[in-house]
Amino acid sequence: MGYKAKFRVWRGEGGEGRLEDFTVEVNEGEVVLDVIHRLQATQAPDLAVRWNCKAGKCGSCSMEINGKPRLGCMTRMSTFEESETITVTPLRTFPVIKDLVTDVSFNYQKAREIPSFTPPADVKPGEYRMQQVDVERSQEFRKCIECFMCQNVCHVIRDHEENKPNFAGPRYLMRIAELDMHPYDVADRKESAQEEHGLGYCNITKCCTEVCPEHIKITDNALIPMKERVVDRKYDPLVWLGSKIFKR
Ligand code: SF4
Ligand code: F3S
Ligand code: FES
Repeated sequence: MGYKAKFRVWRGEGGEGRLEDFTVEVNEGEVVLDVIHRLQATQAPDLAVRWNCKAGKCGSCSMEINGKPRLGCMTRMSTFEESETITVTPLRTFPVIKDLVTDVSFNYQKAREIPSFTPPADVKPGEYRMQQVDVERSQEFRKCIECFMCQNVCHVIRDHEENKPNFAGPRYLMRIAELDMHPYDVADRKESAQEEHGLGYCNITKCCTEVCPEHIKITDNALIPMKERVVDRKYDPLVWLGSKIFKR
């Protein structure tokens, strides 16, 4: 059965904006993105929202629904009370372009700062031989749809704009961890994770893991093991001795 829902939507651009109230029809089985599309069609034709697949796979429709990062296309209206006012705002960590659309280029910049897969010079493509266990270890991380909700929710940058230059964020620290686990990657990921990409800023609050729509265990399976490998390297007596000898 259909009903009328109360929506409060952030409208604005160029750093200025306000919450605007709407009453909008909802039909059975709909998701928040359906309702936003109905708003566009009936009351707010210039309302900006980014979306693409409507199937939880492109990562475009990230927004904050009642203050929590969610995919608009995967958030069922049936999860709310009919009497509830649903507040929809743009991702807070990134600058707003217009209404619900944010400029997520911070994330593309961070992606570019990570050197790509670096195999040994003497092994040609087609000659890589990996154990199944090594393939499976990083498989989980490849499910990422780049919705940037983990990046949005991590307090290191959500509340501290000044940390952005020095912190890659959970999605890209996970990428570094994935490369570090690759048996054929010869780049030094441990030192650069710590020194250049801000792994030490992460204090394991796990907010990133909680919001991941792909249920990737970002903290437990990527960030914590990466931190452990960095520490092992630092406090390994042989590595320590080697660094002293070679510094001479
Ligand atoms: Fe989104 Fe999860 Fe990928 Fe982060 S790791 S960008 S939350 S899919
Ligand atoms: Fe941030 Fe996730 Fe670490 S939310 S602090 S990157 S565990
Ligand atoms: Fe593609 Fe929502 S529209 S994930």
